[in-house]
Amino acid sequence: MLAVLRHEYAQAMRFAEDDDAFTAMPSAPPVPCQLYVHVPFCETLCPFCSFHRVRVNPAKTQRYFDALRREIGLYHDAGFRFADVYVGGGTPTIDPDLLIGLLDAVRAVSPVRAISIETNPNHLQPEVLQRYRAAGVTRLSVGVQSFDDSLLGRMERHDKYGSGAQIGQRLVAAQGIFPTLNVDMIFNLPGQTMAMLDDDLQRLLALGVDQVSFYPLMVARSARHAMARSMGLADERLRHPMYERILDRLLPSYRAASAWCFSRVAGMFDEYIIDQDDYVGVGSGAFSYVGGAMSSTTFSLAHYCRRIESGRSGITQRRALSRRERLRYDMLMRLFGGELRHDDMRRRWGRAFALRLAPELTAMRLLGVTRRDADAIRLTRRGMYCWVLMMAEFFNAVNNVREQMREHVRAELEAWNHEATVSVASIGRSSA
Ligand SMILES: C[S@@+](CC[C@H](N)C(=O)[O-])C[C@H]1O[C@@H](n2cnc3c(N)ncnc32)[C@H](O)[C@@H]1O
Ligand code: SF4
Repeated sequence: MLAVLRHEYAQAMRFAEDDDAFTAMPSAPPVPCQLYVHVPFCETLCPFCSFHRVRVNPAKTQRYFDALRREIGLYHDAGFRFADVYVGGGTPTIDPDLLIGLLDAVRAVSPVRAISIETNPNHLQPEVLQRYRAAGVTRLSVGVQSFDDSLLGRMERHDKYGSGAQIGQRLVAAQGIFPTLNVDMIFNLPGQTMAMLDDDLQRLLALGVDQVSFYPLMVARSARHAMARSMGLADERLRHPMYERILDRLLPSYRAASAWCFSRVAGMFDEYIIDQDDYVGVGSGAFSYVGGAMSSTTFSLAHYCRRIESGRSGITQRRALSRRERLRYDMLMRLFGGELRHDDMRRRWGRAFALRLAPELTAMRLLGVTRRDADAIRLTRRGMYCWVLMMAEFFNAVNNVREQMREHVRAELEAWNHEATVSVASIGRSSA
């Protein structure tokens, strides 16, 4: 079944690339939608990560943030308004002043009600976090991955982002500043044992953070080799028992906000794609889903800045989904959030939803993946693990697209990373 899904997702993510075709902005939906802002800069590049990221080059960061503001302005001029903002990366907090300036600019033109930003443990200075809160940030998501020092070492995060004990202390100091403090963890890492996972769960429960996102390790096809060389191979047989252990330990005090996100409080959002129909992605290498079409901006940072500076959209790939693909995408995302409400599906799709997806819906019920309640179709516990596998396949398909797009601009990204290394080293020398 996973092989079939893999094939289907790969087909669905086949984009048409045309640099000149997509100069016009898409049509704005009638209600405010979600905004995803991609900040691709990181201090070090973790070997397991398949996101679009480059080493930070302080000399070039301002230009990129200026382009982000301008691109958001282009959407605003086209009638888009944003209710929820998610700034992801890379490391959005790489330059606090630029990030806060960007958030102020979005809030000045849109009725923003929630802002989520991602960060790393070395950026958790309470006085800077207070400034983010004052700028409207409601959710801070901290990438921890594991508290185990040997695993942090394998992930090349120990020296840069701190030991498990240091990360724990920084999280304690960050608590209570935002309505939601989320911690990103990964399970089924190479070398991770059940005892290590138990320790991580124990640490999380002792900290009592508001939200935990526990991702299975997902690696793009093309990154598998390099990752195996640097971090080793994960034992796939441990994935299911590890997920069951996570549910056993977290569910008594946390509610599943999605198959891999666990919240103490209601109304939080984890992934920026669950509830909203449309989302706009700005920045280099950002995906959007607007009016039934998936699109992606260029993965070349230089090209992205040039396009935006000349008043054009950053979109260079687009694909309109068929009605059936949209129905299935809707089903995948809503069930990932735990339930498909009957009234919601009727409002959005009329009778088409139940009729066209009847084979899938029946098969899922017979396999014990879902149960039908009076108000909604809900995932069972067995279904939650199925959805972890399905979403992992979906994100792997997205990662494969990212790798493909990055391959097109490989020379530019390598030159960028080299120049960034030299530039950071010279700043280090001049301030020494
Ligand atoms: C892309 S990072 C951006 C935020 C920040 N730079 C960080 O490292 O947390 C967000 C989260 O994605 C998750 N992630 C990254 N690569 C992953 C992978 N290959 N498999 C599973 N989760 C991954 C990690 O938990 C990470 O914290
Ligand atoms: S995991 Fe975070 S810090 Fe590491 S490379 Fe990916 S985006 Fe950057």
